[in-house]
Amino acid sequence: MSPHAHITGWGMYVPERVMTNADLEKIVDTNDEWIVSRTGIRERRIASDEETTASLATEAALRALEVANLSPSDIDLIIVATSSPEHLFPATACLVQDRLGAGKAGAFDLLAACSGFIFALDMAAQAIRSGSIQNAVVIGSETLTRMLDWNDRNTCILFGDGAGAFVLQAGEDPAGVLSSVMRSDGSGGDALSIPAGGSRFPTSIETLQNGLHFLQMDGREVYRFATRVMSQVTQEAIESAHLKIEDIQLIIPHQANLRIIEAAARGLKVPLERCFINLDRYGNTSTASIPIATCEAIEQGRLKPGDKVVFVGFGAGLTWGAAVVQWSGPFPGRRKVYPARYRYYARLRSWMLRILRRLDAIIWGGLHREK
Ligand code: COA
Repeated sequence: MSPHAHITGWGMYVPERVMTNADLEKIVDTNDEWIVSRTGIRERRIASDEETTASLATEAALRALEVANLSPSDIDLIIVATSSPEHLFPATACLVQDRLGAGKAGAFDLLAACSGFIFALDMAAQAIRSGSIQNAVVIGSETLTRMLDWNDRNTCILFGDGAGAFVLQAGEDPAGVLSSVMRSDGSGGDALSIPAGGSRFPTSIETLQNGLHFLQMDGREVYRFATRVMSQVTQEAIESAHLKIEDIQLIIPHQANLRIIEAAARGLKVPLERCFINLDRYGNTSTASIPIATCEAIEQGRLKPGDKVVFVGFGAGLTWGAAVVQWSGPFPGRRKVYPARYRYYARLRSWMLRILRRLDAIIWGGLHREK
């Protein structure tokens, strides 16, 4: 029998700096009343100069490993879903792999914008179910506020920084990720994009002058799309798990806009209380919003082992998706593992690997000259 992909660890990390709607009033022509009534957002977190997408991701991953009682050397696969990668390449996931000292893990980034965490969860679950890996870490991490035009009140009020992570492990009990649905429609790609900085519009004086390296959005278009797909894809994922909406204890939607979540709840004919909401404190943290919300739902006792939960999201691409999960909790532990201690081991390991690579280059250079 093929194994099941259980979620056995979870962790979140958000920057300390809080930016309230009142702070935004000093930057752009907006006000708290408008932002709260149109979005539900009251404040968001902003990464410090020292914090990066990889550093936030690493902190969230270490916390998730701590819950799962798993050491970084046990990880087979790291997927970082992000809309604000550190570079085009190397992948942010590789930077995280190095910072964790996860010596045997394959690592890659997944770009499906705000739906990225659900897509990454699906990929990791498939790899576990196929029997090719045992343990995976799936992370959503963002410093998207660095890609915003702080003069554009249509977009800068919406987003925040943060990271969340899940540990997935192979297990025999029939629980964990029960179903998932991924959907895309590239014909709507221009509704939400960062046009420049890739190969289509390489960075130039013109792209900078025209602000094409900033996030651009047709808010109404995205709103219409989101309200159309959220309840629909939730239903699809529930049906594909051979369940009914009544079997679902909690819905954890992408935290973009309270009105979009209310519309989804109406479409599903469930009370809003069945949806977890924390966007008032973090804004839209893109790929990180679902795992951050999950961590807080667990902390508040709203998600317990045995519960069935739906994760549902949408984003640029256009992309949207949902996953149904029977919540597991950590597997009974062997010896206690302290993943945070690996931070120092990982730094030493990375430093030694760099020195070895230098030595290797010197030796090879010498041999080459002798020939
Ligand atoms: N503060 C004050 N006024 C603002 C404003 C702001 N921050 N942003 C826009 N406005 C103004 C507009 O200029 C417009 O004024 P006008 O009528 O004089 O032209 C008015 O408010 C209404 O703008 P509109 O864009 O129609 O508002 P809306 O009700 O559609 O709300 C969004 C705007 C962005 C909140 C909403 O469209 C939305 O949430 N869309 C989805 C965005 C999203 O989730 N993106 C991430 C996807 S992962």
